[in-house]
Amino acid sequence: MHHFPHLLLALLASTPSDEAKAALAPFQKTLKETLFKALERSTEAAVEVCSERAPALAREASTARVTVGRSGLKLRNPANAPPAWLPPLLDELSKLPPGTQTGRTVTLPDGRVGYAEPIWTAPPCLVCHGPVIAPGLDATLRARYPADAARGFAPGSFRGVFWAEVAPAAAKPDGGLQPPKMRPSAPRDTNPEIPR
Ligand code: HEC
Repeated sequence: MHHFPHLLLALLASTPSDEAKAALAPFQKTLKETLFKALERSTEAAVEVCSERAPALAREASTARVTVGRSGLKLRNPANAPPAWLPPLLDELSKLPPGTQTGRTVTLPDGRVGYAEPIWTAPPCLVCHGPVIAPGLDATLRARYPADAARGFAPGSFRGVFWAEVAPAAAKPDGGLQPPKMRPSAPRDTNPEIPR
């Protein structure tokens, strides 16, 4: 019976939001470390990290089932536009008290689960996202990002989110067993459904 191990795995498996957090953790950690290290060298090096390393790290942190990324309400790079399910979560998270550490999940009609947690602007972020940007850096940013809207942020303001999209575990090519619904439907930190 090849189905048994699948069933066992499904029973032991973490929730989609655990999976989302697990996939995001190394992305968040490495990005932060790389950015702050680069900032010690020069802002030019740090811009390089943000534009080249950030997307690469997001790809590296993604798996066959989990896709991760960054987004926001005001974007520097249009390539960071939110997936279709994200805008309502962005809206909700942006209204939380600054600094709130939390996450929201949403279950999509096709069984995928979306997850997002807020990013609050810290003082070092202002070098590149604040109201005043040094002339040389400003020119570099304008040349790379003609549609840059990610400026004018203040410390503590809502900068955006880390997001993850988790495909359902049961969507296996061999049509493996659906995991039984064993989790109690306790109150969740989530909007149950957002129509697409
Ligand atoms: C050295 C300049 C620089 C610093 C410092 C910086 N950023 Fe950025 N940030 C960028 C660039 C450049 C991009 C565009 C990245 C891309 O092309 O994907 C960006 C993109 C982002 C995005 C993705 C959404 C978008 O607007 O495209 C988020 C979220 C973000 N930054 C948050 C932060 C936070 C939070 C900090 C402070 C911890 C920070 N940034 C510090 C330059 C910087």
